[in-house]
Amino acid sequence: MAQTTMNPSSSSQRRTAAPMELHATHSPSTVPDVPDTLIRLDDVSVFYGDFRAVTDVSLDFGKNEITALIGPSGCGKSTLLRSINRMNDLVDGARVSGAVTFDGEDIYSRGVDPIEVRRRIGMVFQKPNPFPKSIYDNIAYGPRVTGMKVASMDDLVEEALTKAALWDEVKDKLKQSANGLSGGQQQRLCIARTIAVRPDVILMDEPCSALDPIATVRIEDLMQDLKNDYTIVIVTHNMQQAARVADRTAFFTAQAAEGSGDRTGVLVEYGKTAQIFGDPRDDRTEGYISGRFG
Ligand SMILES: Nc1ncnc2c1ncn2[C@@H]1O[C@H](COP(=O)(O)OP(=O)(O)O)[C@@H](O)[C@H]1O
Ligand SMILES: [Mg+2]
Repeated sequence: MAQTTMNPSSSSQRRTAAPMELHATHSPSTVPDVPDTLIRLDDVSVFYGDFRAVTDVSLDFGKNEITALIGPSGCGKSTLLRSINRMNDLVDGARVSGAVTFDGEDIYSRGVDPIEVRRRIGMVFQKPNPFPKSIYDNIAYGPRVTGMKVASMDDLVEEALTKAALWDEVKDKLKQSANGLSGGQQQRLCIARTIAVRPDVILMDEPCSALDPIATVRIEDLMQDLKNDYTIVIVTHNMQQAARVADRTAFFTAQAAEGSGDRTGVLVEYGKTAQIFGDPRDDRTEGYISGRFG
């Protein structure tokens, strides 16, 4: 597929098309009830050299939904998340097999520009990582380096900060260093920075784990607003957080890989969040959510 098909106009046309039928290859542990799939993982495995960190994950992410990925440390949640926007390309020795389809297009196919993939599928990390620049320049950076056509950079900065629920707190100090903000404000700045390049999807890898409870609530509230405009995938080790924010939850665990002593990440169960937490179908899910292991 050609790189030009990653541009926003052609994709918005495609997004209005009927949702795709599920492939027969989907494993029975996935629940085929995502009404409007934006991202599909088909038998995705991720390797670091010879080590298979994630094995055969098939999963659909619904448009304008929040999907939580949960499971014990080391089960491959971050690894899988990074495969969704080709961030693993930047990790030495990492390799992805299977297919990741975004908006009907395989993001790993030849001719697709990984930088454009990462613009449309942005990422927010565990530790807030603002650039050592002014608040304004943090937001303007992405649009500038990607050569986005912007009528008014001031308006774009205001819009992104408003959407990230930070504008009122920073509008009088836009030229000050982002490093002077609190941790929670820095994380909202990072969300604003992602929003500024007009993505469709925001991936969040434990975005609140470095924040205090009040800052955490602000981010969770913000996520509820953002899902009207974006599709969100969040990795969290906080099950209460998954239960509070997510429409759907996928539970992963690490199990011994066939033919080797290595442990590899597998998807155990995927469903609506209320079902996963209230009526888990798999003993391993139940054991994890009831705190018996993990
Ligand atoms: N860059 C890397 N190189 C080699 N192994 C890695 C790398 N990153 C993660 N791993 C390994 O892959 C597995 C999954 O890690 P990770 O995705 O970070 O899990 P989680 O986010 O669920 O804690 C672990 O065994 C981890 O040690
Ligand atoms: Mg992780």
